[in-house]
Amino acid sequence: SASAVLRPPGESTVVVAHRGGLPGPENTLPAFEQALLTRAAFVETDVRLTRDQVPVLIHDATLDRTTDGHGPVAEHTFSELRTLDAGAWHDPRYAGSRIPTLDELLALLAPTDMNALLELKGTWSIEQASLLVDLVHHHGLTDQVVLQSFDAATLHALAQCAPHLPRFLLAEELDGDPVEAVRASGCVGFGTTPELLAAHPQALAALHEADFVVFCFTVNSREVADLLRAAGVDGIITDTPALIGG
Ligand code: G3P
Ligand code: CA
Repeated sequence: SASAVLRPPGESTVVVAHRGGLPGPENTLPAFEQALLTRAAFVETDVRLTRDQVPVLIHDATLDRTTDGHGPVAEHTFSELRTLDAGAWHDPRYAGSRIPTLDELLALLAPTDMNALLELKGTWSIEQASLLVDLVHHHGLTDQVVLQSFDAATLHALAQCAPHLPRFLLAEELDGDPVEAVRASGCVGFGTTPELLAAHPQALAALHEADFVVFCFTVNSREVADLLRAAGVDGIITDTPALIGG
């Protein structure tokens, strides 16, 4: 379960399939299905709300890069988004892949022991965050889900409506003490880059000392992954789980 891997014993560092990982198109069901065949302990994905408040899985705020649609995700209804192709841009083999709903991903994971690292993109109100949390409950996945966000207001909303679900603060830059930032956010972990950890050599030990877990994104080099493992990083978020997972 997610709670078991949040405190990995000794040398074990978990692998997280970033956006489902390659070779499939990011944040699509084919990518998530492929991740189930790797040694990844988690799939990571990005959640956004459609205009009619359906949680869907897409990284960018706009449709243009990863679909044949245009403009902001938040200005389209779910039925509009569902007509778009989310696979052909990546490889013609995946033409016809759709933007998945969070509901579809959770249904895929429920019968498995795969954990989900759900990133809430943008800023979510308590009411909006509750829509996501209700889906996690509906699928009986409270033990297999970790929530994360770069956004302080969203983490605060999650702390209110899902105090029982583990949350990670994401940051690529540091203003001040990372331990204080994670503590203030009410999170149990910190997701950051190898560059930030290298620039703040005391940060990893200080976070561990304070009992926080530390995941690193996005690590696609075996050498960097091995260095992070040796340093005791708790999770490695990668586009290439088959390579990094060994
Ligand atoms: O898991 C954290 C990582 O996914 C954050 O960056 O841009 O890939 O969502 P991004
Ligand atoms: Ca993400």
